[in-house]
Amino acid sequence: MKPPRALVTGGAGFLGSHLCDALLGEGYSVVAVDSLLTGRRSNLDHLRNESRFELRELDINQPFDCGQVDYVFHFACPASPVDYTLHGIATLKVGSVGTFHALEVAHKYGAKYFVSSTSECYGDPLEHPQKETYWGNVNPIGPRSVYDEAKRFTEAVTMAYHRYHKVDTRIVRIFNTYGPRMQLNDGRVIPNFMKQALRGEDLTVYGDGSQTRSFCFVSDEIEGFLRLAKSTEHMPVNIGNPVEFTILECARRVLALTGSNSKIKYEALPQDDPKQRCPDITRARTLLGWEPKIDLETGLRLSLDYFRQAALI
Ligand SMILES: NC(=O)c1ccc[n+]([C@@H]2O[C@H](COP(=O)([O-])OP(=O)(O)OC[C@H]3O[C@@H](n4cnc5c(N)ncnc54)[C@H](O)[C@@H]3O)[C@@H](O)[C@H]2O)c1
Repeated sequence: MKPPRALVTGGAGFLGSHLCDALLGEGYSVVAVDSLLTGRRSNLDHLRNESRFELRELDINQPFDCGQVDYVFHFACPASPVDYTLHGIATLKVGSVGTFHALEVAHKYGAKYFVSSTSECYGDPLEHPQKETYWGNVNPIGPRSVYDEAKRFTEAVTMAYHRYHKVDTRIVRIFNTYGPRMQLNDGRVIPNFMKQALRGEDLTVYGDGSQTRSFCFVSDEIEGFLRLAKSTEHMPVNIGNPVEFTILECARRVLALTGSNSKIKYEALPQDDPKQRCPDITRARTLLGWEPKIDLETGLRLSLDYFRQAALI
């Protein structure tokens, strides 16, 4: 019997490439599509001889069709603040036009559809921790809006295809995830601190470092995706680690793990930087029986070799 076939948009990115691995592990054949705007072929090098895998380099902002698929996983979108600031218009386009194209593929082939949304839909939240029922506090015209509003639109068009075209959709709201294959220079907290600590540079903390974040290790995150993909849940589900750390605490942990002598330097907070971000994962726990297993200490240790190599380049 032919294996089921999955399409992964953004398959050469950080999360997309780990998802390709996991889907192959689940018995799928996988076609990854990626424009390589922020992703890298090297994230998929280990699959070069895998007969059930192919990578097609294309921009999903143009209509595309890779043939019959059973599942569409839509992950294409610049995701780090550095990337979406540099590629603001491309980010809005892939969240809108690109999302229509991915949904059209699912609609055409009667495939299931799974989209990566984000905790950024909650903006600078006035409710804490954030439940899926919270509608968010987003500045629609601020510098982060190219990403936040693109993702909110992505959710809207996904629900519209579900309601009007009966596409079998899933929406995951991803909270900060880290691990091997992240870009070192993507401006997110953990790669930033790791790079600075491993190169002996000062660690940059924005504001006084009392703002909190929660960090989910990539293998936990991917397990959450698979469980949601297999469920019948159409409404958004938060997948992230609810254990909160202040940015300062996170910096200290990276310094301790790497044994670095780097100091901490303080810089002004960027505009609209959320002060607190933490998922309420009650829905993931009850609907999917999912919760993260890997604590920050372990996840940082599991990522250290990757970041050490990347920091040398
Ligand atoms: N990593 C996180 O912590 C996080 C948190 C919340 C949401 N997300 C979401 O998860 C998804 C993946 O994020 P990531 O961290 O792996 O980012 P990433 O930048 O590593 O991956 C995104 C991929 O999409 C590709 N891409 C972008 N525009 C494209 C286009 N028009 N056509 C084809 N490919 C295109 C990029 O080249 C890249 O390979 C994104 O949708 C992001 O919004 C990630």
